[in-house]
Amino acid sequence: MHLDIGPLRLESPLLLAPIAGHCDLAFRILCREQGGVGLASTDLLNSRAVLRGSPRSLELAATDPADQPCGMQLYGNWDDPLPEAACWAIDRGARLIDINMGCPVDKVAKKNGGSLLLCDALGTVRLAERIVEAVRRHSGDRVPVTAKMRLGWDPEHFVAPTLARDLESAGIAAVTVHGRWTVQLFSGKADWKRIGEVTRAVRGIPVIGNGDVTEPEHVPALMHASGCSGVMVGRGALRTPWIFRRAAVLLREGTAAPEPSVHDKLRCIARHLELLERHHGPEHVLHCMRSRISWYGKTMGHVRDLKERFRTAAEPRQMHAALTEWLDRTQGTASPQWNERGVSWL
Ligand SMILES: Cc1cc2nc3c(=O)[nH]c(=O)nc-3n(C[C@H](O)[C@H](O)[C@H](O)COP(=O)(O)O)c2cc1C
Repeated sequence: MHLDIGPLRLESPLLLAPIAGHCDLAFRILCREQGGVGLASTDLLNSRAVLRGSPRSLELAATDPADQPCGMQLYGNWDDPLPEAACWAIDRGARLIDINMGCPVDKVAKKNGGSLLLCDALGTVRLAERIVEAVRRHSGDRVPVTAKMRLGWDPEHFVAPTLARDLESAGIAAVTVHGRWTVQLFSGKADWKRIGEVTRAVRGIPVIGNGDVTEPEHVPALMHASGCSGVMVGRGALRTPWIFRRAAVLLREGTAAPEPSVHDKLRCIARHLELLERHHGPEHVLHCMRSRISWYGKTMGHVRDLKERFRTAAEPRQMHAALTEWLDRTQGTASPQWNERGVSWL
């Protein structure tokens, strides 16, 4: 089951959401290796910072052949150099440019962009036209431009359906809709039905539904509730990076791939650690794994000892040692069925 976004064909309609501070290069590769991911994108990049060449932006924009097709997400407002930043991203390997129209965080939404773009639809459509035109010229029509938005700033301003339709006229190739209002931040429940109003408003571009997909079964449920043609998963993937593979099998065969055993999950964590060490500095490795072990731990039963050893590790070496012991201890639960389905590193 594939998904076409303009000239870009995704092998699966399942997308990893950008989650600032979490969906770094290592994690994107990890999810792709688990299987079922059609597209993963960088976290939001500030258009001015990338053009200035800020080291932090360069690190955030880093990609790799194992991270393809890779989207790069940019944010900025109507006065920012988003068209130039989009061309910059293409030169650094972006196969898709996504414009952030949903970030609710004050630092972004009060001045720089994100959800602020939902508040002046006309200005945002003009901005989209300029980005689309610049990208078209720079890439020779190879790279689609997409937008990721919320339903609107608040329930009095349900702008997503008309904005999506106008963005389509401006040349935007797909929209992702997170089914919450900006004022909700991440509270309450994502409204999948209202995502359906966006699906019905656009003429032909794909709508990608997003919000609260944490189990493989939620993927067809969101598609059914909204008519969306793709599904983006964020926080659910932090706990279960194998959700894409399970859901892709569900879409293809009608039954989800079985949940990996504790041993298989430990192998996945070990691979995450390895990828972090390969692609990021030692401080990021420790910081990331210390927090991520709690997310992973939620699906693994009694692993308090493992979590404690990760939290107190002074070096990645100690994390490896803890994992080796736990892998030995759980050898009996290794699942050939999970492994044989072809994760390249197994
Ligand atoms: C900590 C955090 C950081 C996020 N960073 C981004 C971001 O950089 N760009 C973006 O478009 N969305 C960002 N999001 C929103 C997610 O992409 C997604 O739309 C949202 O979490 C809802 O999907 P989920 O329920 O599957 O997590 C972030 C969400 C969280 C919780």
